[in-house]
Order: sequence, then C-alpha cells, then structure tokens
Amino acid sequence: MKVGIVRQMRPYNFGAGPATLPQPILEQAQAELLDWQGTGMSVMEIGHRTPAFKALLAETAELFGSLLSIPQTHCVLLCGFPARFQFSMIPMSFLKESADYLVTGIWSRLAYEEANRKKPVRQLKSVSTFDKNADYFYYTPNETISGYAHPVCPEVGEVPLIADMTSCLLSAPLDVSPYDLIFAGAQKNIGPPGLTVVIARNSFLDRAKTGLDTLCDYRTHRTYESNYATPPNFSIYMANLMCHWLKEQGGLVKMGELNHRKASILYEFIDNSDAYLTEVPHENRSMMNVVFTLGDESLTETFLAKAASKGLLGLKGHRAVGGVRASLYNAMPIEGVYALRDFMADFVS
Ligand SMILES: Cc1ncc(COP(=O)(O)O)c(C=O)c1O
Repeated sequence: MKVGIVRQMRPYNFGAGPATLPQPILEQAQAELLDWQGTGMSVMEIGHRTPAFKALLAETAELFGSLLSIPQTHCVLLCGFPARFQFSMIPMSFLKESADYLVTGIWSRLAYEEANRKKPVRQLKSVSTFDKNADYFYYTPNETISGYAHPVCPEVGEVPLIADMTSCLLSAPLDVSPYDLIFAGAQKNIGPPGLTVVIARNSFLDRAKTGLDTLCDYRTHRTYESNYATPPNFSIYMANLMCHWLKEQGGLVKMGELNHRKASILYEFIDNSDAYLTEVPHENRSMMNVVFTLGDESLTETFLAKAASKGLLGLKGHRAVGGVRASLYNAMPIEGVYALRDFMADFVS
C-alpha cells in the first residue's frame, strides 16, 4: 500500500463547500481504499445490503445520535440527495394550508420560492410575526453566502420548527429537541457531497401527507433505515470517519469552542483594521463563513491571487455578493486562520 500520496502540508482551503476535510480522515480513507475492513473491496464497491455496510449505516446514525444527544423522539436519516431537494420535499410533505419562511439570505429565499411554487407561503423578516396556525416555521440558522447567522432557536410555540443546517450542523452543540426537522447537506462540516442528513421528530413525520412518491416520503427512508435505494456509500463512510474524528477532538463542545475562537480571530482583526470591512451586524456574525470586503475593493482580485500563492485557497466571495469569504468549518485548523489573518495584515501594510 502506498501511503503518503496526501501531502502533509496541504494548502488551507477556505472554500464554502465542498469543503476541506481533516487530513487524518483523508489518509484513513486512502489507506482503506483497496481493502475496507478486510473485505478485499473498497467501501464504494461493496453491496449496500451486506452486513458490513448495514453496520456502517447503523453506526453512522448512532454517531450522529451520540454527538448531538438526539432524543429517542427523533430519527436520523442518511439520504442520497442534495440539500436543496429538501426545499421541495418539505412543502411536498407538510405544506397543507400555509407556512412561514424566515428569509434572512439567499438560501432561505430559495427555499421560500420553491415552497411558493406549490402554494403561497409567508415570507417573514422577524420571528415575532409568526403565524401560530402555520403548518411549519422554516429558517436557516447559517446563511452560507452572506455569512449571516440567526443564532437563536426561534420560539414558535406549537408550530413545527424546520431548519436548514447545511452549513452549521456538527459545528457546535445543539439542542435538537425543539426541532421537528433539521436537514444538512454533508459537504461543509460533515463530509463530502452526496449525502443529506435529516434529523426528524417521528411524530412529525407521521403527520406528513399521504400518497407521496415513495422516495419523496421521509417515512420510506425511516422504515428502510436509509437503505431503500442504493445509498451514497462513500459519503456515508466519510461522514462516519468525521464523526469519529469529532469525538476524538472532544466532541461538539470542544469543536464549538474552537470554531468560535477561529471566527473571533478574524472578526477582531477586521474590527481593528481600516482596510477590511464586514457589513454583518455583530449579533448575526456567522462562526462558519466570515464574509468581508477590502476597503479598496479594486484590490480584491490581487488579494485573492496573492492569498492563493501563499496557499490560502477558496477565499473568493460568492458571485451574488462578491468580496471575500473565509469558511471556517470543522476541518479548518486554527493555524490556517492565523495564517489568513497574518496574510491580511501583510497585504495592507
Ligand atoms: C445553507 C445551505 N442550504 C442549502 C444548500 C444547497 O446544498 P446542495 O447543493 O447540497 O443542494 C447550501 C449549499 O451551499 C447551503 O449553504
């Protein structure tokens, strides 16, 4: 077996996703690529109904359960579709009369627009105007594109609460119990793309509409333990390694503290500099995606090119907002954040 194809000193990848993964798990995947668990096959080549793969699926769901202390009232589904498919599947399943969408950025707006294709739903600017008769309340705690976070769990009484946690699930501890449905595409904090994790209250899933297409019914995925159709085997395997890695790092409490420190390093630097600006209000600053501009915006391209030449990659802001975006997901080491901060200081000195 050739070990060492993955370089020890890789550049730092600040891309918003698919995002950087911890080097130890890439190395483990590399080492196990030709022979996973003594099967003589890679995990990508093995049948999804074999005991070995079923055990991996079950263990991965359990790891999510233990990392997040998911109560028995909820199930974990490991589904082979992109996160955005949830923008359709949620209204398809639960929109009967009307729903509330808290629109705080591009991703929540897209989810709102998709639901509107089925039935008019309400677009809210503030949680306080929620409708207590809504079929559900939907929000996006971390808007990946603008770096805008809604850090407080909305209090919406008896209204079912749904959250798109694509860019924040597993980045810090979370009390799952108020949520009826959480979903997250894996490609930020969890693993490679191809997998969407759904955590849902069982009694909420039981209230979904009937007569849905089989694959569009959450209950199918629950009944078949995420193994109705061929699951994204490699993505699930990587998510499994990621969960083990997170446990080794001290779990989500430690990871949350580290992620908070990482983001604070950049925000503090930006706040104390005249050369960089962020428009995100303090209380809404994302711990995951630090979005900023240069005071002199004409320098942005040079900034990005020079950063890349120093091994600081993926910093270009989303095309909808421009500027710079540093994504600081779980796998971004603090050393990468210090390297970026020092580069930012040098660039304007
Ligand atoms: C918050 C959020 N929701 C949804 C998506 C869409 O994910 P996917 O491309 O897996 O559909 C993204 C992708 O970046 C995201 O950041």
